Amino acid sequence: MPIRDLPPFRNLRDFLAHLSAQQDVARVAPPVSLVHEMTEIHRRVLAGGGPVLHFDHATDAAGRAATMPVVVNLFGTTRRVAAGLGVYPERLCALGEALAALRGPQPVTGIGDAVGRLPLLRAALRTRTHRISQPPVQSEIRLRGDVDLSRLPIQTCWPGEPAPLITWPLVVTRPPGSQPSDIATLNVGVYRMQVLGRDRLIARWLAHRGGAAHHRAWAAQGKEMPVAVAIGADPATMLASVLPLPETLSEMSFAGLIRGERPRVAPAVTVPLMVPADAEIVIEGWVSPTETAPEGPYGDHTGYYNQVEEFPVMRVSAITMRPDPLYVSTFTGRPPDEPSVIGEALNALALPLIRQQMPEICDLHLPPAACSHRLAVVAIRKRYPGQARRVMAGLWGMLPQFSYTKGIVVVDDDIDIRSGADVLWAVSTRADPSRDLMLLERTPIDYLDFASPEPGLGGKLGIDATNKIGAETHREWGRPLAMSADVSARVDALWPRLDAALRGFQKGEEQ
Ligand SMILES: Cc1cc2nc3c(=O)[nH]c(=O)nc-3n(C[C@H](O)[C@H](O)[C@H](O)COP(=O)(O)O)c2cc1C
Repeated sequence: MPIRDLPPFRNLRDFLAHLSAQQDVARVAPPVSLVHEMTEIHRRVLAGGGPVLHFDHATDAAGRAATMPVVVNLFGTTRRVAAGLGVYPERLCALGEALAALRGPQPVTGIGDAVGRLPLLRAALRTRTHRISQPPVQSEIRLRGDVDLSRLPIQTCWPGEPAPLITWPLVVTRPPGSQPSDIATLNVGVYRMQVLGRDRLIARWLAHRGGAAHHRAWAAQGKEMPVAVAIGADPATMLASVLPLPETLSEMSFAGLIRGERPRVAPAVTVPLMVPADAEIVIEGWVSPTETAPEGPYGDHTGYYNQVEEFPVMRVSAITMRPDPLYVSTFTGRPPDEPSVIGEALNALALPLIRQQMPEICDLHLPPAACSHRLAVVAIRKRYPGQARRVMAGLWGMLPQFSYTKGIVVVDDDIDIRSGADVLWAVSTRADPSRDLMLLERTPIDYLDFASPEPGLGGKLGIDATNKIGAETHREWGRPLAMSADVSARVDALWPRLDAALRGFQKGEEQ
């Protein structure tokens, strides 16, 4: 099975050219302020499923013209997230299956099977990076007195925020003791960065992130940590940085797997790290082992402002860029925002991996409106009593990405888990509050969840809304109503002869 439907995108420009050919990029010519205005335009376009926005004339807080164009809404639709991964949206699941096969390979069953797996093997070989000496991203190099973050078009997204915020930084780090050239040890994560001045930033990695783990290890040795922050890169690298990959798999290697070409990297100019050679901009620097600064309050993906908290400070040692760089930005806010759209698409990618562990799961939905991970609806093919509870416990216990999911609703596979009406029907007809709720207390929870009684510690609720079987019930269970297929077919045939006013009702949909 080929792992890509689309040609490789070496850099952001290749990807934008592809999207432009699909009429999926809109140029915005009038001046638009980086302070709030850009967020408001982006927010409305994203909510309508609109195109990538390429702002030609962004202006800063003082009304000065930005030195480069700003691109937002890059991954504002599932179609563009899928394209960034190199596939059509309907093939996200197939890509997920291919990735699951790479993770848990089965024995080869014959020569045909072996040949069929060659594309996967080729893809695996593309995880090796290609080191180049004159990377495009180092066409312009600013050092020392020339370093000035205020020359980048950094957005201020929401009213009341304290300073401009880098919203799409790809933060590259490595653990102490590793070789700078050893790509396998690199971590790349997107952690927003508050601007503190011309050459200082705050690195806001949450405690469980890869970047935070590396920083703790450097700080334990009393050393500054080298950091490189790429802004704007090929879409596979950008999306790999958002995936919660296991610590043993580097995002750069994973990007090679999905981007159809070996990732091109180059040594940074002032720090011992490798950086994506085809990025638009790279900010290099050092994060202090001890110095912190209060970060926020900033608008977050939950739809609220975060509480102010201390995070480590980064001192910038160089800014490098392409000759004509593009600055990539976004906002985070109440869903839908770009992270929630990305989350939904990546969910489809993760489903085959989840099914490897629990094959009874037919489908899984993390509604974006519930901040993409706080609630999950799962459809299962139920075979034995208690199975819904096993699935809940499995999701919470086995899979780290579900430790923050505070509600899981399990339904049978006849329920459309993306239909709120279907799920509510299952909950209200197949669940009983005294029997079908599973309540856990004092479990790990998103520390951003201010509704939990303690920061980072809260409850979890599972609702078993499946049909009850065996020892689960002693009552005669309801049989769902259904029209017989032949009556349905006869009425379909009759419909065109009915009054024109009835035509829109043919499928029995809500009007
Ligand atoms: C636009 C955007 C902004 C994000 N901001 C943050 C952030 O400020 N802090 C954070 O810890 N994670 C943030 N994330 C989520 C992480 O990037 C994501 O969970 C990633 O997988 C972390 O990588 P890691 O597991 O290698 O640490 C953001 C994601 C996106 C798409």
